[in-house]
Amino acid sequence: MSLKNVQKAYEKVGAEDPLWAILTDNKKRGNKWDPEEFFETGRNEINSVIAYLESIDVKINYGNAFDFGCGVGRLTQGLCYHFDKVTGVDISDSMIAGANRYNKFDKKCSYITNTEPNLKCLSSNTFDFVYTNIVLQHMAPRYQVEYIKEFFRILKPGGKALFQVRTPIGSSPKPGSLAEKIHNFRKERLKPFWKSIRGRPPIQVHTISPQIVEQIIAECGATILDVKVVDKRARRWHKNLRYCAKKPI
Ligand SMILES: C[S@@+](CC[C@H](N)C(=O)[O-])C[C@H]1O[C@@H](n2cnc3c(N)ncnc32)[C@H](O)[C@@H]1O
Repeated sequence: MSLKNVQKAYEKVGAEDPLWAILTDNKKRGNKWDPEEFFETGRNEINSVIAYLESIDVKINYGNAFDFGCGVGRLTQGLCYHFDKVTGVDISDSMIAGANRYNKFDKKCSYITNTEPNLKCLSSNTFDFVYTNIVLQHMAPRYQVEYIKEFFRILKPGGKALFQVRTPIGSSPKPGSLAEKIHNFRKERLKPFWKSIRGRPPIQVHTISPQIVEQIIAECGATILDVKVVDKRARRWHKNLRYCAKKPI
C-alpha cells in the first residue's frame, strides 16, 4: 500500500469518526467516544511510559518532544503535561484539524501535516524525545525504515526515541515464493475486502522484522537501551515491540 493510500484512508476516517479510527472500540463507533475519556487514555499512556523510563533508569531531558503520527493529539496532549514544547506530525489534514480543535496547551503544542516519506519538515538535532505508538505498523516496511532513520536525525545528541513496531512471529515467506504471493494476496486484497464488508476503515497493518529494526538503529549509530513486548495478550502471528534507543552524544 502506497503512502498516498494510507493518507487517503486516514483523511476519510479523520473526517468521519476520528476518535474511533484511532482507538477502534466497537462500542465507540459512530462518534461515541467521550473526548475526555479518549484523551485520558493518552495521558495515562504517557504517564506509564515515563514511569517505565524511570524504572529502567533512562534519563530524559523534558525540553522538546515529538509525537509521530499524532492523530487528533491523544498522546501529544499527554506529552504536554511533561515537556516544555511538543510537536505532533500526521499524514492526514483531517486528523490535524481535529488535533488543533482539541489542543488545550496553546503555543506549547504545535501540529504539522506531513505527507512526505521523510521528516524533512523538521530540522536535525531538535528533539530530546521522540515517541510513536500504533503508527509505523500502518505503513509498508520501506516507509517504516525511512521514518525510523529520521527519528535519529531529528533527535538531539543524547536524545531518546521510544517507538512501537509490529514484528512477525515465526518465519516470513521466502521473497518471490508462491507462499509470499498468497500472503500478499490475503493482506492486500482479501483482508481489505473483508474489512470493507464489515464497514471498517481500509487500514492495513504491516510487520517489520526485529533484525531490520536493529540494523537501522545500528546504522544510525544509536544504541538500544531496552526492548519491551507491549501486547496486553499473547498473539498468534505477531507481537508488538517497543524499542527504546539513544542517539549518541
Ligand atoms: C491508529 S492512529 C494513532 C494516532 C496516535 N498515535 C494515537 O495513538 O492516538 C494512526 C495515525 O497515524 C497517522 N499516520 C499514518 N501514516 C503516517 C505517516 N506516514 N506519517 C504521519 N502520520 C501517519 C494516521 O493518519 C493516524 O492519525
